Amino acid sequence: MRTFTLILGLLCSLGYSSGYNYLMVLNSAGRSHFNVGHALAKGLVKAGHTITVVSVFPQKKPIPGYTDVSVPNVIEVMGGDIGALWASIQKTYTQNLIDHYQMGFRITRGLFEDSNFQDFLKSNQSFDAIICETFYNDAHYGLAEHFNAPLIGLATGGGLTFITDMVGSPAPASFVPHIMLPFNDHMSLYERLLNVAFLGYERVLLDYYFLPTQEKLYKEFFPGNKRCFYKMRRNASLVLINQHVSLSFPRPHSPNMIEVGGMHIDGKWNPLPEKIERFINESEHGAIYFSMGSNLKTKDLPPSKVQEILKALGGLKQRVLWKFELDNLPNKPENVYISDWFPQTDILAHPKIMAFVTHGGMLSTTESIYHAKPVIGLPIFSDQFFNMAHAEQNGYGIMLDFKTLNAVEFRKAIERITSEPSYTKVVQGISFRYRDQQQTPIENAIYWVEHVTRHQGAAYLKSAAQRLNWWQYHNVDVLLIIFVVMVLLLIVLPITIYKLLKKLLLKGERTQSTKVKRN
Ligand SMILES: *[C@@H]1O[C@H](CO)[C@@H](O)[C@H](O)[C@H]1NC(C)=O
Ligand SMILES: *[C@@H]1O[C@H](CO)[C@@H](O)[C@H](O)[C@H]1NC(C)=O
Ligand SMILES: *[C@@H]1O[C@H](CO)[C@@H](O)[C@H](O)[C@H]1NC(C)=O
Repeated sequence: MRTFTLILGLLCSLGYSSGYNYLMVLNSAGRSHFNVGHALAKGLVKAGHTITVVSVFPQKKPIPGYTDVSVPNVIEVMGGDIGALWASIQKTYTQNLIDHYQMGFRITRGLFEDSNFQDFLKSNQSFDAIICETFYNDAHYGLAEHFNAPLIGLATGGGLTFITDMVGSPAPASFVPHIMLPFNDHMSLYERLLNVAFLGYERVLLDYYFLPTQEKLYKEFFPGNKRCFYKMRRNASLVLINQHVSLSFPRPHSPNMIEVGGMHIDGKWNPLPEKIERFINESEHGAIYFSMGSNLKTKDLPPSKVQEILKALGGLKQRVLWKFELDNLPNKPENVYISDWFPQTDILAHPKIMAFVTHGGMLSTTESIYHAKPVIGLPIFSDQFFNMAHAEQNGYGIMLDFKTLNAVEFRKAIERITSEPSYTKVVQGISFRYRDQQQTPIENAIYWVEHVTRHQGAAYLKSAAQRLNWWQYHNVDVLLIIFVVMVLLLIVLPITIYKLLKKLLLKGERTQSTKVKRN
């Protein structure tokens, strides 16, 4: 009996010691971003690890091994930003970037100032790695030194510069468009010019505005940290990026930047609520799913826009499920079903759903492709223009301008996407190749998180690019030397030769003329 308990104890301790203890910080108050981190957290727990998740969405039914630190202060500071999202469509790309940075300052500080988070920082816990959402919050990466553990970035959006900076992932401006611009990898000369200009603008804004402000936050909230802010933010062991080549286009990444796009899709199909299922089932001509995501609330729209949308939807043969946050929608047509919440992936999985009207966020786009549904994009901010430009250029979507959207145009787009089979055919092809991966995205993500933990931060993966400053990285010094040598060769050398020859010729003439005289 004693040996039995001993063995049991040994087994338990073995089982325990093989699991790591992680900290995950999800600093944005967006539900969709949270869903990505939450999927990874659940995956890590299932793989035998324990995790503490700092977020604004504590679990309703706690899972063993998954501890919440709720930070409601972030919602408070971010509330205004979410309400203002619709307005971003009226602004220029350059202004939007500044707005995002300012929102970043608010949520970075909002998390630090949350009393639960402060208590958590003071607790003497130890972690094997820190998984930090990368969302305009570089000061938070100081958690790695605070807890003396390697840093893992979780990029819930696309590859913005402050994210590629973390691991020195290359982003050649000639074929990698900035994710806030509506370009694809085949850019015209004019587009390339705009891309380079926008990247330059972003770099200057980062180096002289965003990062110095983040550095101040870092120093204020991590007074005990010794590492240089600029060095530590470029010292991540791994970045998991919510992208996949099958959904976008081929681009280079450093070996510790791993594409895990769609890891929040678990591939399981949950039955739909009966009312919704019946509504879709009984649609004679199929149904359309319409949702602008969790952050853009349709109730904040001007009533005239809502009426235009209803005019378009009311005239359709198809039924429409519209995520709309008010119970009462005047003039709601018979074929429209409204609700403030829908089980999105399960709806997209229904065979009678013909198309998805979306803001074009990365998560919605990925889910739509996964379930092979073409999209009508009404992009509003951030990478939505980029995603929808990609959908349109590849033939699985139609992008509309929300600013000028009217009933006729909206209806035409829906009729086109439901009547022309090419859209569905294209997206079926993309869905097929996207699902054709060696491991599922979540398995891949878990493997890499474990890998860098096992190798204490996997320093061997860290690119030497991280130690170079910009002129070394772009070989500006080398180019300068080449330039100087070329100038010497092309200008100074010919002039010297010319002068030398002239001298020689003159001398020759002189000797000749003296010879002539002698004769
Ligand atoms: C943390 O550790 C320090 C010293 O190691 C100790 O003084 C402090 O009381 C500990 N705090 C908690 C909350 O355990
Ligand atoms: C970089 O991270 C490693 C752990 O992954 C740490 O040992 C090292 O001190 C860090 N260096 C800087 C400059 O942040
Ligand atoms: C909807 O249709 C499917 C397939 O025909 C059926 O299995 C399901 O029970 C139907 N659901 C409802 C609520 O009518």
